[in-house]
Amino acid sequence: MLRPWQFRIQIRKESPTPVYVQIVRAIIADIRRGRLGPGSAMPGTRAMAKSAGVNRKTILAVYDELIAQGWLVTDSTRGTFVSPDLPTQTPRSLTPSSRKSETKREIADIDTQPSPLEIPMLSSTFGVLAFDDGTPDPRLVPTDLIARAFRRGLKRVSRRTEFGYGDPRGNFSLRQSISTMLNIERGLSTTPNNICLTRGSQMAIYICSQLLVKPGDVILVEELCYPPARVSFQQVGAKIISIPVDKNGLKPEEVEKVCKEHPVRAIYLTPHHHFPTTVSLSSARRIRLIALADKFNFVIVEDDYDHEFHFTHRPLLPLASADPDTVIYIGSLSKLLSPGLRIGYIAAPTKFIDSVAAQIMLIDRQGNPASELAVAEMIDEGEVRRHARKSRLEYARRRKSFRNCLLETFGDLLRFDVPDGGLAFWVRFKDHIDLAELESQSKEHNVQFLPSHSYSVTGKKNLGLRLGFASLQPSELEEATQRLYSSFISLH
Ligand SMILES: Cc1ncc(COP(=O)(O)O)c(C=O)c1O
Repeated sequence: MLRPWQFRIQIRKESPTPVYVQIVRAIIADIRRGRLGPGSAMPGTRAMAKSAGVNRKTILAVYDELIAQGWLVTDSTRGTFVSPDLPTQTPRSLTPSSRKSETKREIADIDTQPSPLEIPMLSSTFGVLAFDDGTPDPRLVPTDLIARAFRRGLKRVSRRTEFGYGDPRGNFSLRQSISTMLNIERGLSTTPNNICLTRGSQMAIYICSQLLVKPGDVILVEELCYPPARVSFQQVGAKIISIPVDKNGLKPEEVEKVCKEHPVRAIYLTPHHHFPTTVSLSSARRIRLIALADKFNFVIVEDDYDHEFHFTHRPLLPLASADPDTVIYIGSLSKLLSPGLRIGYIAAPTKFIDSVAAQIMLIDRQGNPASELAVAEMIDEGEVRRHARKSRLEYARRRKSFRNCLLETFGDLLRFDVPDGGLAFWVRFKDHIDLAELESQSKEHNVQFLPSHSYSVTGKKNLGLRLGFASLQPSELEEATQRLYSSFISLH
């Protein structure tokens, strides 16, 4: 038989949780544990207030709440009781070892899918300089312009009552601006119905992997590859086959070899500035690749993540401009404006875009109409183009300074080409060194870079380093290079 219930809650007056809520939770916990069985009489409010050391009004509020929630019932003549309709709980001892039932699943014990991606993160610890993987300098982001455009965007969407649920493909004005930009500047042939906005190009890649792949399908990727893209395809059961890359980009003859052996569903690649080596896919190879896609009936997923930053000549036209029926084109404003905006997009035939929109309904419903409208306005008024021109000049200067720093500091110990485009260098050491060891030494010297093995599809180690240069000012590039050199010297 149950002993009469004793109120045992320890009230924490300093807690931000109101006292009456603490008592409500404690009583519910006791009912759940079986310390208070269905139909048990509750103490009168006066006695309860006394034992809890609180005002009687607090207990009245507690009982009202528990009655409203259905845990307690009141009878005007007899008093207040635990609802007799609640299922009976067997009281459990509170010793820690027996508190957990044998069968009960706790969130922490649930077998989640093992995390397929070890996400290498660069810390933003004060005093540490990071060569990131090629991101823009947040200090150059035109925040005043963005703030003004946001203000106007917010007003416009609320005036037009567009600040509610809307089209999962995203704000029409931005889809229109992007479509026009792609048609005029990148040679595509799109309408807004060929565009779906995404939260960065990463979401676009993820959705493509969901839509394209059935378990066992063969997906080709470049032999060194952007890890979150590779893992997105792996996670949906793709069989990944890697294709070697040389100074002219991925080798189409290797693609052909694989196609002769297996049906290939799609190829994911970064033809403009290969991630991580920065090389561009040559025109001849572009033509070969498109011909292979036609012949072997596979889809090309073109990730053009940093299109605007080409330094030696105009950016190359995307593969999608040559064959819009075979190529799913993915772009982003992360490098051009800021990663924090989370605006990317997919350009593809309308039927595919409709399927992308259906996926967006499942993930996050839609983007943010105010920020999308703000960015549309910045594109239409030429602000984005002006910012691209300005930042390209600054990044060209930094690219030159970084080249000089590397040459002056490392002499001929390093091998690298100055990249024609993109915001990172790909460097290799002349002599074999253990890059994992260099990485741990660099931590001691307050400089960081992303682990090189993470780019490898085949698990090969000791490849090279992708060193982003754009987010560091020339004096910081000099200091970071010195620290990298000190880390290198300490290996010997
Ligand atoms: C090759 C490549 N693709 C896609 C992305 C994702 O960028 P975002 O989602 O910010 O557009 C990145 C980010 O660095 C990248 O390097």
